[in-house]
Amino acid sequence: MFQLLVTLVSLACCALSSDVSSPSILDPPSTFASGPWSLVQQGTSGVSGMQLAIVTETTAVIFDKVEHNPLMTEDGNPAWTAELNLNTHVVRPLHALSNTWCATGSFLGNGTLLSSGGNPIVITGQNGLQALRFFTPCQDGTCDIWENSSVVRTTSPRWYPGSVRIEDGSVIIFGGATANVLFNNATVSNPSYEFYPPKNINGFNGLKIPSPFLASTLNANLFPFVMELPDGNLFVAANQRAMIFNWKTNTETPLPGIPNGVRFSNPLSGSAVLLPLTPENNYTPEVMICGGSTLLDTADPSTFSSQSPASAQCSRLLLTAEGIAAGWKVEHMPQARVMPDMVLLPDGRVVIVNGAQTGLAAYGTVPDAVGPISNADHPAFTPVVYDPTGAAGRRFSSQGIPASTIPRLYHSTATLTPNGSILLAGSNPNNDITIGTEYPTEYRPHRLEFYSPAYLSKPRPSYKGLPTTVNYNSEFTLSVQLPPDTTGVTVALMDLGFATHGSHMDQRFVKLVSKLSPDRKTLTVTGPPTSRIYPPGPAFLYVVTSGGVPSFGHKTIVGTGASPPVDQGAIDNMLRMAEW
Ligand SMILES: *[C@@H]1O[C@H](CO)[C@@H](O)[C@H](O)[C@H]1NC(C)=O
Ligand SMILES: *[C@@H]1O[C@H](CO)[C@@H](O)[C@H](O)[C@H]1NC(C)=O
Ligand SMILES: *[C@@H]1O[C@H](CO)[C@@H](O)[C@H](O)[C@H]1NC(C)=O
Ligand SMILES: *[C@@H]1O[C@H](CO)[C@@H](O)[C@H](O)[C@H]1NC(C)=O
Repeated sequence: MFQLLVTLVSLACCALSSDVSSPSILDPPSTFASGPWSLVQQGTSGVSGMQLAIVTETTAVIFDKVEHNPLMTEDGNPAWTAELNLNTHVVRPLHALSNTWCATGSFLGNGTLLSSGGNPIVITGQNGLQALRFFTPCQDGTCDIWENSSVVRTTSPRWYPGSVRIEDGSVIIFGGATANVLFNNATVSNPSYEFYPPKNINGFNGLKIPSPFLASTLNANLFPFVMELPDGNLFVAANQRAMIFNWKTNTETPLPGIPNGVRFSNPLSGSAVLLPLTPENNYTPEVMICGGSTLLDTADPSTFSSQSPASAQCSRLLLTAEGIAAGWKVEHMPQARVMPDMVLLPDGRVVIVNGAQTGLAAYGTVPDAVGPISNADHPAFTPVVYDPTGAAGRRFSSQGIPASTIPRLYHSTATLTPNGSILLAGSNPNNDITIGTEYPTEYRPHRLEFYSPAYLSKPRPSYKGLPTTVNYNSEFTLSVQLPPDTTGVTVALMDLGFATHGSHMDQRFVKLVSKLSPDRKTLTVTGPPTSRIYPPGPAFLYVVTSGGVPSFGHKTIVGTGASPPVDQGAIDNMLRMAEW
């Protein structure tokens, strides 16, 4: 019955072309490398992959909750934070002091990763609800997490917050709950936001700032999507709703809601992406939200089922006056997904991976939980790639993409790697770790997955000479080596983001202006136009051929690498006045 339903839905999807977008303002379609993708399963994450971020050209960090992970710290306790070497697949325990369970992460303008919020003590460690953790990436295997809540912490407890890096290299931490809940609600919600470093702004001197939007998007509004827009405002979305937010004036401007009753915030989790910003589209922002569920977030959770169909809907909104007036354009993925991850590729496409076709996020709350306590079932094993520039009705494809064999349900992640592959990790729809069941905790050997898109099987361009910092509007030259059939190149400057719960904090694709020398050996590239188009902070730069084949993405820091502005008065006032 279930299979039949899926078949009908997928048939229905392709006939639905009348309600999809009219011509896009993105670049005209470029060429994508064709052919089969490959999939390898190798390496272990040591700790379950709940949160994932690439931190250097060869390393990623993986943060989990405190649980009985196999990776141990030197004192014999299970680790819950680790660094993964992408080449050797060796994992090194890191030493967070507090529980990172359902924390968020964003890089500051100086390249330090800020992990915020989390969970009270479980097993060991400190209460992480108000934690701020700092990790400055290194190449020599000596860097670690630093935190000390006596001197640096959030204004208030934040479990399941979102975050975003803004134009001055600071981070805004948005929402969350003050306690463990399936659905957020008025008792436990923290409908506010704050800056790190704290600011004295709009009458709030380092203290949390109320967010009417968060108060009005209960109950499904955990891990709100927050994106920096090219005009300096933020796009914020939660539950079924969205807004433009001006943090300088603390002003909310509502946007149309997502159509057809689809909810996309935890635990009815979808995923969201800011589509590529290019000179050709005048850096006009367009957002897309995919997956989620039409379950009622105000219903009694005991009426939910692991078999409730997820949503196949993708909703796309162009953030111009005309685009907003026209409203969200609806398309359908070939498969329904709750808990998907959307990952931008250096060729400008978006790959949708992970998740389930039925049920919802979290565990142990539906009467018919499976595997043994997953709230979701029917894993979505086949990635689908989305071409935002494609003709309406022809944008999704899974052609040539092998299906995974590893269910990636609650607490799964995915990210683009510097090499252009897509790394999938995690899945832990269990309390603590569980193996030997249908949906076990996935940190085991050979359970990391690396998808190589077709472009990785083609002759690749390479380049040298990327400066350690790339400032706005400044020119730099790369010495490039191009495959013989290359007729031109583009440059993709990418923030690979911080992935957890389908939110990819700060994930971004900005196409840079570039000019190839007549001998095709030198590429002159201009840094991004403004700190609103690409907020200062880490970036990976891919040179992409006209055939859609990217180089390795080397790392740089956009801006000067300076630390974000510090207002000591706001910090002192926060430490004196905020709850603790
Ligand atoms: C945290 O900071 C306080 C105040 O400076 C200090 O007394 C304490 O030793 C620090 N704790 C750690 C673990 O560094
Ligand atoms: C919110 O959830 C908590 C934890 O489940 C519960 O104790 C509380 O009564 C709920 N509050 C509301 C307003 O539903
Ligand atoms: C990068 O990708 C290429 C092509 O798939 C592969 O040959 C190479 O081993 C990869 N390198 C790393 C470090 O993953
Ligand atoms: C970046 O800024 C933060 C906040 O001011 C600071 O804690 C961190 O040490 C800085 N990192 C570097 C690499 O300077």
